[in-house]
Amino acid sequence: MEIPLQISDCLGMDSIKSIEKELLGSDLSELIKAATKEVHVLAENTQLMLSYQKGQVTLTQYKLLLCSLFEIYQVLEEELDRNAEHPAVQPIYFPQELARLEPLQKDLEHFLGPQWRKKISVPAATHNYTQRLREIGKNSPELLVAHAYTRYLGDLSGGQVLGKITQKSLGLTGSDGVAFFSFPGVTSPNRFKQLYRSRMNSIEMTEEQRREVLEEAIRAFQLNIDVFDDLQKMLSITEEASGSDATCRIESRSFSSS
Ligand code: HEM
Repeated sequence: MEIPLQISDCLGMDSIKSIEKELLGSDLSELIKAATKEVHVLAENTQLMLSYQKGQVTLTQYKLLLCSLFEIYQVLEEELDRNAEHPAVQPIYFPQELARLEPLQKDLEHFLGPQWRKKISVPAATHNYTQRLREIGKNSPELLVAHAYTRYLGDLSGGQVLGKITQKSLGLTGSDGVAFFSFPGVTSPNRFKQLYRSRMNSIEMTEEQRREVLEEAIRAFQLNIDVFDDLQKMLSITEEASGSDATCRIESRSFSSS
């Protein structure tokens, strides 16, 4: 099923064309950063990310986020594994260094206990996101780079600060509950990001494919924003219903991603 694009005019095709004109001959890594600059600001300004930046993230917010991230990385990493030999995936395939599924499982077990799998529930926006990942994994694997970039380079950038804020806000010690933010296979995030960018730039693509990747990266950010917004909606409903001690066990069907 095709998921409608939720990109405002300022972030659509026209802006990609003008970015390409401005950065003519530039590498994919520069183009993708420029193309997602505005939507990155939108992501930073979601209520969830603003709570983070104020150091006010709550345990409930964090548990809900972990549930959604688990679903997202499960599908992203399954599709990357399945397409590992694809010429547009192979250069940016770094499961040893980047895979997030195991750390997320560890964090969820820490907070929800050994039966954590039964307690996972996510909003509709998370399903939209995973559906899109499945669709491109099956039909257009060359677009997976846009999703891998959005999540992994984000985790290695602002995500590192978010990890410290989570620890401090929730009074966590060591790696308990925050394994998601830690990349033991990456000694220097900055150097690794450089390597990742150079691998992205080595992928051979037609102009049309490159444009599609830029569009997909904007869409990937928007899908994340939709998840954050839906999580906040879940939170306000459950907090109203049961105080601040909600878990991930919230009925997901009642939430829409639009
Ligand atoms: C890069 C901050 C949320 C995706 C960065 C950088 C910072 C940052 C400081 C490094 C910029 C640079 O090296 O030039 C933040 C903050 C956030 C946030 C404070 C929220 C509190 C997000 C979200 C996503 C994201 C929600 C996507 C889901 C990325 C990506 C990069 C990045 C892909 C790499 C850009 C590149 O080098 O090409 N972020 N970020 N960020 N962020 Fe975020």
